[in-house]
Amino acid sequence: MARTSPVFVCGSCGGETLKWQGQCPLCGAWNSLEQRSAASARAVTSAAAVPLGAAVPGGRSAERLPSGAAELDRVLGGGIVPGSVILLGGDPGIGKSTLLLQVAAHLGASRPVIYASGEESVAQVSLRAERLSLAAARLSLVAETELAAILALAAEAHAAVLVVDSIQTVQSAAAGAPAGAVSQLRECTAELVRFAKASGTAVIIVGHVTKEGTIAGPRLLEHLVDTVLYFESEAGSRYRIVRAAKNRFGAVNELGFFAMTGAGLKEVRNPAAIFLARSAEPAPGSIVTVSRDGGRPLLIELQALVDRMRFGAPRRIAQGLDANRLAMLLAAVNRHAGLSLQEHDVFVNVVGGIEIGETSWDLPVLIALASSLHARAIPASLVAFGEIGLTGEVRPVAWGDERLREAQAQGFRIAVVPQGNAPRQSPAGMRVVGVGRIGEALEAALGALT
Ligand code: TYD
Ligand code: MG
Repeated sequence: MARTSPVFVCGSCGGETLKWQGQCPLCGAWNSLEQRSAASARAVTSAAAVPLGAAVPGGRSAERLPSGAAELDRVLGGGIVPGSVILLGGDPGIGKSTLLLQVAAHLGASRPVIYASGEESVAQVSLRAERLSLAAARLSLVAETELAAILALAAEAHAAVLVVDSIQTVQSAAAGAPAGAVSQLRECTAELVRFAKASGTAVIIVGHVTKEGTIAGPRLLEHLVDTVLYFESEAGSRYRIVRAAKNRFGAVNELGFFAMTGAGLKEVRNPAAIFLARSAEPAPGSIVTVSRDGGRPLLIELQALVDRMRFGAPRRIAQGLDANRLAMLLAAVNRHAGLSLQEHDVFVNVVGGIEIGETSWDLPVLIALASSLHARAIPASLVAFGEIGLTGEVRPVAWGDERLREAQAQGFRIAVVPQGNAPRQSPAGMRVVGVGRIGEALEAALGALT
């Protein structure tokens, strides 16, 4: 049944309550609740049916706009879709404005593009464009925070792309709250979505990921937009990763790689080995694996440290990996290979700040743990990948051949892999050891362990 009683909307967090109170029960803000009738909040409009195929803005099948960065296009699923809304989230200072200025300049060479900045003045943005040697005849910069004014400019220019940098700085008169408040973020994003759908202009929104404690981050907006990209980096690293967390027009979890240089963001076309910075001297607990997260093979170093427990319960800490899966692996290796770490603290880390979401790291993690426990280094020329089952078997993973080829291309000479992934003929110059059980794998990587 339709709800007709009034709703009270918090101007600070956007939350709804049925009864007026002095303090918002959701975010704790005082005097922030305003009445809005539920019926008006859900106005019914008549719908019009459109034949499939005719529903694309401009009438053509969606012709994607190349962003000028193949790494970004790949994450977007092949370029920017006209009329779509993309949210680019990331820590302040990571390079969101730099990337989007580069994209805007590329597109602005041949199409009308508006770059609206509420964070920097036109002079500042121009200076940066000059420093990056960016020039685009049809790119207009505007320092504006009033959303209606930005939309009017974009409509007048028939912009192909509108960049809003950032959503935290724009405001709409429709939401009576200061810029950055949750209700403003939601209202402005919703208005931008309506504008994009109606005009066919692709809208790219920058959203700062705010520190814990503030809730007004891009996560709140994810469900409103078509595509959500996150710009990530390990502290101190010059490499930047763009990840699609949501994409209505392509695959998620594709990764794009960039490096921050003095001349802006440069694409990293072959990122296979960018996370490998191992010291020449092999150290116990370190191993290289080939992940295939993000659509292509990546060589990644895993590190494990096993330390005798001091007191209390043993600690299991995993950085970049799923800690529950690590606990399962510890039980499997204890039961099926006699490697007991019940009296030890266990730390596992993925070097490079990248997250591995697949199971191919099971086997290398166990080898690294055994290597640390026995203080025996794994040869620097060895790679390993494979999934471990609860019964102690080593299970094959997808893309085995491709992983082996990449490892060989990067100079690795021994690969310890699941039997099911061992090719009939090893890649040239590489010895592939196929293993069926955990114990066999540890033996192959570290020699007989006592
Ligand atoms: P910026 O794009 O302003 O970050 P965001 O918009 O995500 O807050 O990037 C700012 C940082 O990038 C700043 O620390 C300087 C660095 N940078 C370079 O190293 N090289 C460059 O060419 C540019 C433009 C920025
Ligand atoms: Mg910025």
